[in-house]
Amino acid sequence: MHNLLNQLTLTEKLELLIGEDMWHTKAIERLGLDSIRMCDGPHGLRKMVNDRESIGEVIPSIAFPTLSALSTTWNPDLAYQMGTALASECQLNEVDVLLGPGINIKRTPLCGRNFEYFSEDPFLAGKMATAYTLGVEEHGTATCLKHFSANNQEFDRMCIDSKVDLRTLHEIYFKPFEMVISDASPSSIMCAYNKLNGTYCSQNKWLLTDILRDTLGFKGLAVSDWWAVHDSSASLKAGLELQMPYADYHLPNLMAAYEKGEITIEEIDAAVETILSFIDDRIKARQMPPSNISMEEKHQLAKDIALESMVLLKNEDHLLPITTNKFKKVVLIGEYADKPFIQGGGSARVNALFVDSTVETLKEIAPKDLEIHYAGVYATWTPHHDVENILRGIEAAKEADIAVVFVGTGDIVETESADREHIKLKKAAEILILQVAKVNPNTVVVLQAGSAIDMSSWISEVKAVVLQGFSGCASGSALAEILLGHVSPSGKLTETYPLHLEDCPAYEEDLGNGLTVHYIEGIMVGYRYYNTYNKEVAFPFGFGLSYTDFSYNHLAIQPNEDGEKMNISCEITNIGTYAAKEIAQLYVHYENSPVIRPVQELKGFQKVFLNPGETKIITFSISKEDLTYFDATSQTWKMDEPSVTFQVGSSSRAIHLSDTLMLNH
Ligand code: BGC
Repeated sequence: MHNLLNQLTLTEKLELLIGEDMWHTKAIERLGLDSIRMCDGPHGLRKMVNDRESIGEVIPSIAFPTLSALSTTWNPDLAYQMGTALASECQLNEVDVLLGPGINIKRTPLCGRNFEYFSEDPFLAGKMATAYTLGVEEHGTATCLKHFSANNQEFDRMCIDSKVDLRTLHEIYFKPFEMVISDASPSSIMCAYNKLNGTYCSQNKWLLTDILRDTLGFKGLAVSDWWAVHDSSASLKAGLELQMPYADYHLPNLMAAYEKGEITIEEIDAAVETILSFIDDRIKARQMPPSNISMEEKHQLAKDIALESMVLLKNEDHLLPITTNKFKKVVLIGEYADKPFIQGGGSARVNALFVDSTVETLKEIAPKDLEIHYAGVYATWTPHHDVENILRGIEAAKEADIAVVFVGTGDIVETESADREHIKLKKAAEILILQVAKVNPNTVVVLQAGSAIDMSSWISEVKAVVLQGFSGCASGSALAEILLGHVSPSGKLTETYPLHLEDCPAYEEDLGNGLTVHYIEGIMVGYRYYNTYNKEVAFPFGFGLSYTDFSYNHLAIQPNEDGEKMNISCEITNIGTYAAKEIAQLYVHYENSPVIRPVQELKGFQKVFLNPGETKIITFSISKEDLTYFDATSQTWKMDEPSVTFQVGSSSRAIHLSDTLMLNH
């Protein structure tokens, strides 16, 4: 393949650096070089029926839970399996590159694309995205990590300048990319639209070469976000090999730059070689044996992920699960009980092949002596209908022993290209909840959203809240099983739910002024901020209830001989009556640190299944390197503290065991 380089004309070389159209690399027919097909995801396949056109009808495909919902499973095995199934979808549809996963940090709950991202925590995002990426890549499809870097909002995303200090970039925003690059070798990466510290990411040599390749060790292809290139030759010089999609100005611009000596043949050849080797790998990957995962198996996997993603946020008096010894008549209020919001909007939106209904599933699987009623109100948002709907919802709630109200944000509110204006539900939804709760003391709220919601005006009035999230095509049936207690909820939050938007660390600067956004909170993103400064929150990072209880015992820290690595282990016992999964979390804390450190940082997590009465030992392995911070002056990772405290808990604010280890430096 590489000797092709010598056979290419200059024009052909330059054409290879530019997309052939919206979704393909350039084919060079006279040399038998095929084009490579790219396609959006990342929680399903968003392939155009005619993908030689820019946009158009999208093929129906299986919609897995969005990455925000995948992350609340805290289960890398499921992320790997989802990657495997997505690779199979790609293979069946002749797609070579899946444009994902998106691993930007959830810096502010306003970001319209938060549903596409994993977490406010870089370690969690890095681990889950690594598993996902391995699942896709090991089964013959290329991933494209996105969006590099500091693209944490949609407002003015094409030109905003994210001002971020070096330590914060390394510890928070580069970290998940670093982890995926090191452990999963993604085939490609997509630069972000925005500027980073004054220079567009698409033409930022420091970012795309010094950091991405020389520091983080990336070996694949760097692709632009769609229309993110402002200056073709500056992008090429910065280390961006593929400019997407096709635009008629790229080729003349590159040719003119070459003729003026602004770009050299060496620079062009280096980029072309990377593209040729990428194309070569993709063409070889097409020879992989066909995937044998059936549609039923994919649906089941989507359901398994949805089941583990749901987070039980409140459950007063053990209201849930709904069992016939407690209740005879349940009413589901809100049309999302039948047609759930399963995802957000924009380029990640999948044309779901099918969508399960909670109402229908409950009717099928609930015990015969449990009456299931459905008040499909709430179809529109016009004030006139709101009143009618709310009144119908109240009437239905009066008649039932337990009322489950379905509310959410959906793909209009949470979408690419726009941020949310606030983090509350619509007024009509809040009123519906409050009015239902007034007439039915056993009110459950089910939330369908991809990012934090301010529940302050209604949460104290309801007994239970389930975060259903945007959990894909099997979300409705999975929720039914959770409501009935066939499966205990086992998801936990991967972002803090603040009491109010104003409490967020980024609030004062949030989305910036249209020109720049200063990341004033620095490394204190999410729980790092709330927990360090002891701020009250609605639900902390890592929080999620279960139908059972767990006890944590016997913490043991075992450093290896040279003290470079350590194992931290403890016992977890299911002390309740439900078989369930628990997510144990390992945080580190430092006393007497010479630098500012967050009071806690996540360094490990494990999900274990336990039958009632069962005990398991879990072990976290970490190295001294995992304890370092980035020193901006020397530009190295350092660890100066005399000791480290390991904390094991069921959330960042429920630490059950902790112990301190003295360190030899
Ligand atoms: C989005 C990318 C997406 C690309 C192609 C861009 O607008 O930011 O995430 O992959 O479009 O649709």
